[in-house]
Amino acid sequence: QSGFITLDSGYKNTGATKSAITFLDGEEGILRYRGYPIEQLAEQSSFLEVAYLLIYGELPTQKELESFTNEIKVHTLVNEDMRKIFDGFPVNAHPMGILSALVCSLTAFYPESMGSVTAEQERLSIVRLMAKLPTIAAWAYKNHMGHPVNYPQNRLSYCANFMHMMFALPVEEYIVNPVIEDALNTLLILHADHEQNCSTSTVRLVGSSHASLYSSISAGINALWGPLHGGANQEVIEMLEEIKADGGDVKKYVEMAKNAKTTGFRLFGFGHRVYKNFDPRAKIIKKAADKVLSSLGINDPVLEIAKQLEEAALTDPYFVERKLYPNVDFYSGIIYRALGIPTNMFTVMFALGRLPGWIAQWKEMRETKEPIGRPRQVYVGHPKRDYLDINSRS
Ligand code: SDX
Repeated sequence: QSGFITLDSGYKNTGATKSAITFLDGEEGILRYRGYPIEQLAEQSSFLEVAYLLIYGELPTQKELESFTNEIKVHTLVNEDMRKIFDGFPVNAHPMGILSALVCSLTAFYPESMGSVTAEQERLSIVRLMAKLPTIAAWAYKNHMGHPVNYPQNRLSYCANFMHMMFALPVEEYIVNPVIEDALNTLLILHADHEQNCSTSTVRLVGSSHASLYSSISAGINALWGPLHGGANQEVIEMLEEIKADGGDVKKYVEMAKNAKTTGFRLFGFGHRVYKNFDPRAKIIKKAADKVLSSLGINDPVLEIAKQLEEAALTDPYFVERKLYPNVDFYSGIIYRALGIPTNMFTVMFALGRLPGWIAQWKEMRETKEPIGRPRQVYVGHPKRDYLDINSRS
């Protein structure tokens, strides 16, 4: 190899870029969006306000927030021609598959989003994406259920409108419970950005080739789907349900995870590449889970199992030595379930929350004119060898 290549599989020790958007301190468990602590934003802000902060760098004035919100409302509808693509999906197609396909097809409907866009075209692409993703996500769910879709209602807030599109039926209007609306708002804020995680790095890499914002986001959706990343929230609930069905013996599953090499089992919702003491988001979500379930009068035995599993793991040397703590995905599914959201929509919810972060990072990468991403490798294959005629191959 010419030159000196340092191998860093999984980029564990590589800074891929400079960014002013999100700050993480893994040792101290600190997460800040544009300098604002996640605890304050989760408590006092709204998802659209946090989206504006991440994308444009400052908390919006009242006027800026109103115009951002109103412009999003104008674009919530999905192009009727796009509905035809949508209707082509088989009933019960996985919502994440529909989401990534339809987001990518926005590039076909708005070709001006390709290549070097003007500032106005970029701004409009951002608004369209923020506006249409909830509609596409809810319609993907309705397709999966074989239900007719619900059109957006602009009199509703972002979160209330999404729940309406998800759960209203021709025979029954969906009345939004403020506790549910507030819980969804908090969850979306907590998922909004997380510096250079797998899906965000994917968005930046795809965007660095000057692919459109829509196709870059579609790539991020696909990276998020993996069970080691955003797909973990669905795996967590399925794991907790399995433990419950198996008599609730959490210690047995802790032991299985400790013998991962033979059992191939790992505790989903535990561990993090950056956080080595605790994930600040998990702390907030755990408290919110208690609050939401008690105010909705829901007694979900899986929450108790989750707490027992956390307790068992945090007192076990295997987990303590490896600094494995609950991450953002460990408790989030328990709240989504209390909101009536089915498990195959959990990762879609993660994508809805992460969208403004992906957009902000894509925008920053393009504004700083980052070169096309093209890492090198350490070659470990065959040395030079000559072509073999097919008759002399064994
Ligand atoms: C997200 O990057 C982000 O910021 C992501 C995210 C975001 O907001 O974008 O925070 C969202 O993806 C959260 C993570 C969701 N994934 C899971 O919950 C899946 C379970 N977790 C693991 O797969 C793992 O912890 C990762 C993927 C999260 C982190 O993997 P690393 O940093 O590559 O760590 P590793 O796989 O090298 O593990 C180190 C050791 C290994 O043991 P040894 O080989 O040293 O003996 O810890 C063990 C692992 O076997 N280990 C686990 C474990 N996670 C790591 N053992 C049991 N259960 C687990 N969950």
